[in-house]
Amino acid sequence: MPLPKPVYYPPFNVTRSSHAIITSRDLEASRDFYEQVIGLVLTERDADTLYFRGLEEVCHHSLVIKCHDGEHQAEAIGFRVYTEEELDKAEHFYRSKGLPARWIEVPHQGRTLLVNDPAGTPVQLCATMTTTPRLYTQFQDFKGGAAMRFDHYQIQVPNVQEQTDFYAEMGFRISEYMALDDKLIATFMFRKPGTQDIVFLENPGPRLHHFAYTVSDSHSILRACDIAGNMGMGDVVERGPGRHGPAGVLFVYLRDPDGHRVELFCDHYLLIDIEVEPVGWDVRKPGLSLRWGLPPQECWFNETTAFAGIETRQLDHERGPLSTLETYLAEKARVRAAKAN
Ligand SMILES: [Fe+2]
Repeated sequence: MPLPKPVYYPPFNVTRSSHAIITSRDLEASRDFYEQVIGLVLTERDADTLYFRGLEEVCHHSLVIKCHDGEHQAEAIGFRVYTEEELDKAEHFYRSKGLPARWIEVPHQGRTLLVNDPAGTPVQLCATMTTTPRLYTQFQDFKGGAAMRFDHYQIQVPNVQEQTDFYAEMGFRISEYMALDDKLIATFMFRKPGTQDIVFLENPGPRLHHFAYTVSDSHSILRACDIAGNMGMGDVVERGPGRHGPAGVLFVYLRDPDGHRVELFCDHYLLIDIEVEPVGWDVRKPGLSLRWGLPPQECWFNETTAFAGIETRQLDHERGPLSTLETYLAEKARVRAAKAN
C-alpha cells in the first residue's frame, strides 16, 4: 500500500480547515444547541442563516447554518489559503486536473473559489474573512462545552487512496492512517501544525461524517454533556467520552437537532518536523485504535450528511469488518454465556 510522498512546496498554499456550511430545518433549535451545548458564539444571524465561531476565533464564522426544509445537508467545507494570489493558483490547479472550479460570492468572506475534489466534495477556498473580537477571556460568558476553535472535518469517501494522493499533492501530510489488508481505509491529513485538518474514512461518499472543535480541558467535554442532559437532550451524546488511539485525543461526539455530528475534543499534538513518519494503526487489533471508552454505535459509521447536489458513490468492494458497540456487546455476551456453561 503506497503512502504518497509529502509535497513540501505545493502548487498553492492551504493553511488550515476553516469552516463548514450545513442546513437546519429549525434555526432556533440549532441556535439553542450550538450556543448552549457546544458553546459557540453567534457572530451574526439573518432571517435564514446563523453564523457561529468559537470563543478563540477572530474570523467571522467557522460554522454557517442555513435554513432548509428537506433532509439535512452539507453545502460545503472550507479551507483557508494564505493569500489572495494562492486562490488563482488553486483555480489553475483544479482546472488542470479537469475538476470544477468557479468563483462565488459569499457574505463576510473575501474572494471565494468553489471547487470539487476527486470524490466530489464541495470545498470553498478563501484567503480572508471579516474579523470580530476574540472572546476566549470572557470567562463569565462561557456556555456548554465552550468550544474554542474549528479544527477539522471527517469526510467519508469510497476511495481513500485516491483522496489521500490528491490532498498530498496539495501539500497535506499524513499524520496517522489505518489500513486493512494492505489498503488505506482512513487517513488523517494536516496543513496546520497539528495532526489533522481533514480525515478520510472509507465508506460511501462523499459525505460529511463530522466536524470538530477544540475545547480547553476535559471538564468542558463533560459540561457539554451535562448541559445537553439538563436541556432534555441527553441522547444527543452519541459516542464517548473516550480517548482515541489516533492523535490520542479525548473526545465526545454529539448529534445536533438535524442529525449533523459534531465532535468536541482536547487536544492533538504538535506536528511540523519533516522527519516524523506517519503512524499506522492495525484495525484488526481491537482496542488499539481506541485507548479507552466503548466502540461506536453502528449509526456512528452509517449515519452521515450528504452534500447538496452531490451523488453518493457506493464502495466497489466489500467493506471490512467494523468494531461497533453492537458487535462488542454481542461478543461480551457470548463470552459470558460460554463461561456460565
Ligand atoms: Fe474528528
